[in-house]
Amino acid sequence: MTKKELLYEGKAKRLFLTEDPNLLIAEFKDDLTAFNGVKHDQEAGKGALNNKISTELFKLLEKAGVPTHFVDMPDDNHMLVKKVDIILIEVVVRNIATGSLTKRLGIEDGTKLPFALVEFYYKRDDLGDPLINDEHCIILDLVKNEGDLEELKRLGREINTILKSFFARKGLNLVDFKVEFGYDSKGNIILADEISPDSCRFWDMESGEKLDKDRFRQGLGNVKVAYEEVLKRILGE
Ligand code: TMP
Ligand code: ASP
Repeated sequence: MTKKELLYEGKAKRLFLTEDPNLLIAEFKDDLTAFNGVKHDQEAGKGALNNKISTELFKLLEKAGVPTHFVDMPDDNHMLVKKVDIILIEVVVRNIATGSLTKRLGIEDGTKLPFALVEFYYKRDDLGDPLINDEHCIILDLVKNEGDLEELKRLGREINTILKSFFARKGLNLVDFKVEFGYDSKGNIILADEISPDSCRFWDMESGEKLDKDRFRQGLGNVKVAYEEVLKRILGE
């Protein structure tokens, strides 16, 4: 499979057409952004790390019965994926309160939530990805029918159950994460985008150390070292 025309460029990835109309090639970039692109930097090797981490996690989820867009990882910076119509909802699942949740609702940082909290955000950079509810999703025509919103929540919780116990075995607390879904050529909802330290928060269970993009957001340094550590734990070295 070869890269054809550029279809879409996001903050962390480029999507290319291929000779197969049902397949795309995702190129993982070394760019790091935060606060809706206001903070921007590059970290050599970050794209390859996210590609490898996402590949491992997509394979794990597929094995556990979660449909994903993953097809193959042809090289360090590229992933072959099924083409989907992306659903413009960022599904965030939280186990521990931090980030925007603590700011918005005044919950103390680090509070363990009584159950996995699922939230929807409107995937619109120009609006700053605002928090939305089910009725907003319907009014904005973001899904084909109301039942799809329940499916997004169910998949979000299922992914959380699988990844939370997987990372616990690796000594990492899965604090929260963001996932994106799309409709495949048959109209089924499948997991798309990436699952990486750019889109998840991981706290070391022993030291509490942050091993994710918060190192960049908060200027803590050692971003790449943290992402390498996450990959190392996933591979069980
Ligand atoms: P938040 O606390 O800033 O709302 O972030 C919740 C989770 O979603 C966290 O794991 C980081 C991830 N996330 C993204 O992947 N992209 C985004 O644009 C934002 C705001 C958060
Ligand atoms: N992804 C968003 C950005 O690039 C926000 C974030 O992850 O903090 O600005």
